[in-house]
Amino acid sequence: MKKIEDYLARSENQYLKLYDESIKHPEKFWTNIAETFVWKKRWDKVLNFDFDKPEFKWFINGKLNITENCLDRHLSTNPDKTAILFEPNDPNSKSEKISYKQLHSRVCRFANVLKSKNVGKGDRVCIYMPMVPELTVAVLACARIGAVHSVVFAGFSSSALSARINDANCKVLLTADGSYRGSKVIDLISIANDALLECNSIESTIILKRINSNIKLKDNQTWWHDEIAMVSNECEAEEMDSEDMLFILYTSGSTGKPKGMVHTCGGYMIYTAYTFLNVFQYKPNDIYWCTADIGWITGHSYIVYGPLLSGATSVMFEGVPSYPDFSRFWKIVEKHKITHFYTAPTAIRALAKHPVSLVENNDLSSLKVLGSVGEPINEEAWNWYDKNIGKSKCPIVDTWWQTETGGIMLSSLAGVTKDKPTFATVPMIGIQPILLDKDGKEIFENDSEGILAIKFPWPSIARTIYGDHHRYKNVYFSAYPGYYFPGDGALTDINGNFRITGRVDDVVIVSGHNLGTAPIEDAINLHENVVESAVVGYPHDIKGNALRAFVILLNDKLDLDMQKEIKDLISKTIGPIAKPDIIQIVPGLPKTRSGKIMRRILRKIASGEKENFGDISTLLNPEIVDQILLNS
Ligand code: WT7
Repeated sequence: MKKIEDYLARSENQYLKLYDESIKHPEKFWTNIAETFVWKKRWDKVLNFDFDKPEFKWFINGKLNITENCLDRHLSTNPDKTAILFEPNDPNSKSEKISYKQLHSRVCRFANVLKSKNVGKGDRVCIYMPMVPELTVAVLACARIGAVHSVVFAGFSSSALSARINDANCKVLLTADGSYRGSKVIDLISIANDALLECNSIESTIILKRINSNIKLKDNQTWWHDEIAMVSNECEAEEMDSEDMLFILYTSGSTGKPKGMVHTCGGYMIYTAYTFLNVFQYKPNDIYWCTADIGWITGHSYIVYGPLLSGATSVMFEGVPSYPDFSRFWKIVEKHKITHFYTAPTAIRALAKHPVSLVENNDLSSLKVLGSVGEPINEEAWNWYDKNIGKSKCPIVDTWWQTETGGIMLSSLAGVTKDKPTFATVPMIGIQPILLDKDGKEIFENDSEGILAIKFPWPSIARTIYGDHHRYKNVYFSAYPGYYFPGDGALTDINGNFRITGRVDDVVIVSGHNLGTAPIEDAINLHENVVESAVVGYPHDIKGNALRAFVILLNDKLDLDMQKEIKDLISKTIGPIAKPDIIQIVPGLPKTRSGKIMRRILRKIASGEKENFGDISTLLNPEIVDQILLNS
């Protein structure tokens, strides 16, 4: 059998050579990578694609089960190696090491629980759980039996949860009685129960006892520990087609309801593993920690699948960086001798605000590689990270990618290709990024700025939006036909390194969370005293971006109560992360003749701009700009 190690770039020259092969002969290249995995049946054809339909199929008619590659495969070579290293919220609670053998057994056992609830191939299972090992077990148990997991971040509200459950018609809900987050205990089950009032498709709910509550179970609700006591820990892995659904994960769109991005088995498997090993240059004894939540794509691809496919030790942390104080991350690095630390710029900026003694009191000498993900990292944060955490000796991989791309698209390879502050730098092997100008023409020169697009399919591209292929085509493939359009702007330096400049649509990244402004406006507009609203992002030194809402009221009184009511509405419909920092009442909103709000102007006002609003000739009501400025 071929070994994936033989296809990893260990030097810049190897990267260039592999990159060249992957572009010239993509099918041959990805065949080699795919052959390093366990398949139940070989594929007939590597790739079929059509950017117009759009349709992407990889390893056609290949059969596999991703959990055999994450778990069974390692049992003969490394059964006792730690797969999951769990660090609980409370620093005084014991951390837990789960070996590949133990994880395999727990996954099989829970897979049998799901089967006993009548869950089978293709059924959707919603997972709304804290960052505890059972979450990983739940995800893999679904994959084991071919059920489609839909993980919903446990910070989302009950209506956000019910909307996602209903969109995918989930059969089973997996949740917990509560969760620990810093000094807070979150009443997860009450949120889940509120959501369930709106959900008809859920037949059973299985509840993990995490906070030892005495809640009374409702009909069709059972305890996790009771369920696993009744089944065996042996479970055959379901045979899946390469293009069968593996999971749905929701991401915000600039308009309308969240988009359930669909990822499939074969391509996602090989791409997440290959990028994990190339980007992080993980070596067998390394301890890798990604601080994301499994509720986001980062957690799916680079806490669960990528690392486990690679036989790595992946750390799961239940808590928050500020508890019990702002040295927690560094204490964990020292405690577990972390070699790879992958986090978000917003966390770096927040931590950098605190005395550097909180870092220096800990031994960080185990660190070899640092990573950044989720939003552009500004130079100051990059330098702080490099100097204080990496002690100027750890490469920093700034990884640009999306829920939709499934895996990392642009990044340096740690210690192999050069990093450069604020630049994601180079394309992954097999990825063909290009800058387009406003008319959709390719810009071939380096040192340019434009709209980022991808020219050729890659194995882990999302295949559709669940239940709405039309929207999938519209959002990603219509503005620039023949390309995948991610919604980001970018520039290149003279050597062709890429730097992401930010979103070019109405999505705002707040503290690394991708938020569409339209759903927030919808929530605000639910308030009886609100006529209309517009939400925009503006630069914020810790969160990257913060939100400012401009609202027109029925009567122009915005007291503290109403501020709170509006924020509560947003928390309830979306989640606390979507609350604006500033709510400003305005007599009107700048609109074009066709009634479209000119957000460009509001964005400038929110950023502190007082003049230079560009071309406002198409504004129906130019006087409104001064009136808004007067009150800001
Ligand atoms: C959007 C995708 C990637 C997983 C987590 C976020 C922004 C992501 C970077 C980066 C600059 C970045 C983009 C992208 N983004 N990584 N390294 N540099 N911007 O996934 O929630 O789907 O958000 O996050 O704007 O489009 P997501």
